[in-house]
Amino acid sequence: MKKIVVIPGDGIGKEVMEAAMLILEKLDLPFEYSYYEAGDEALEKYGKALPDETLEACKKSDAVLFGAAGETAADVIVRLRRELETFANVRPAKAIEGIECLYPGLDIVVVRENTECLYLGFEFEFGDVTEAVRVITRKASERIARYAFELAKREGRKKVTALHKANVMKKTCGLFRDVCREVAKEYEGIEFNDYYIDAACMYLVMDPFRFDVIVTTNMFGDIVSDLAAGLVGGLGLAPSANVGEKSAIFEPVHGAAFDIAGKGIANPTAMILTACLMLRHFGYVEEAKNVEAAVERAIKEGKKTPDLGGHLKTMEFANEVVRILD
Ligand code: NAI
Ligand code: MG
Repeated sequence: MKKIVVIPGDGIGKEVMEAAMLILEKLDLPFEYSYYEAGDEALEKYGKALPDETLEACKKSDAVLFGAAGETAADVIVRLRRELETFANVRPAKAIEGIECLYPGLDIVVVRENTECLYLGFEFEFGDVTEAVRVITRKASERIARYAFELAKREGRKKVTALHKANVMKKTCGLFRDVCREVAKEYEGIEFNDYYIDAACMYLVMDPFRFDVIVTTNMFGDIVSDLAAGLVGGLGLAPSANVGEKSAIFEPVHGAAFDIAGKGIANPTAMILTACLMLRHFGYVEEAKNVEAAVERAIKEGKKTPDLGGHLKTMEFANEVVRILD
């Protein structure tokens, strides 16, 4: 029995979680799901965005399935990733057949360092002067670089590209770049290169096929993974996994999307594909493939939510996937 903590969270987090759970429950695997609260609503109710009870349950779980938080995202998901030491945030951007997007056929993965950089929240205020401290260590850089190469090896990918800004941030980005270059030497069969982050953004938009696995620091990874999602159809389709030595957190790349929350029109695909990443993590590869194929088929049959130009509601799409799985 795997213990899964389910945190729907705020906004569309709740809506897409309901859809993904419909499919997971249908698979009837030896998973024990327990629901916990976190996010803006939890802050209002309990005075804490990440209540102690939720954090404790996450620490004891085999995996956390997370929807989205709102304005408290930093105190909830960024903190959870750190508390559970899920050092690698893996964000695939893979074009799904049947979806009109900028780059059909694109299949890249962003591997984002998850525990340091500017997202540590070391911010200071001196009247009208504010400061943020960026921490980059050899240990975390080496760990994430190695994770990216191991992922490339495991998935038969050909190339790893490190993104940084070492010409300006000579110490922090310089260390990250140097460590990536060192680790690359251990993986002879896998091509390696590195770009400055700004140029890489242009390459991503104009010629993304030059990338395969991208490895980068926390904030650049946050930004570049949304960019990559945009190349293959948007945030409604982008899943992610946070992986550590002991714990794992699975969450879509998108947030609470308050602009569409409450209308039941959010695309649950990102959350469903996120659940598939969890299935693969626990070795249920066949099950994951079946669900992914069912999602693809539903979309190919024109069953789409409004973000993809369709008119289906969140749960209508989920029901289509269930129907195909039957
Ligand atoms: P967002 O990712 O929530 O939404 C960005 C845009 O993409 C919106 O136009 C939204 O409607 C659309 N979108 C996102 N997911 C979609 C889906 N499944 N189906 C259809 N359209 C979708 O980012 P935004 O608007 O910057 O932030 C909204 C709130 O979410 C903020 O309070 C922010 O702090 C929080 N947030 C939380 C995250 C998390 O919990 N991991 C990540 C990003 C933002
Ligand atoms: Mg983000």
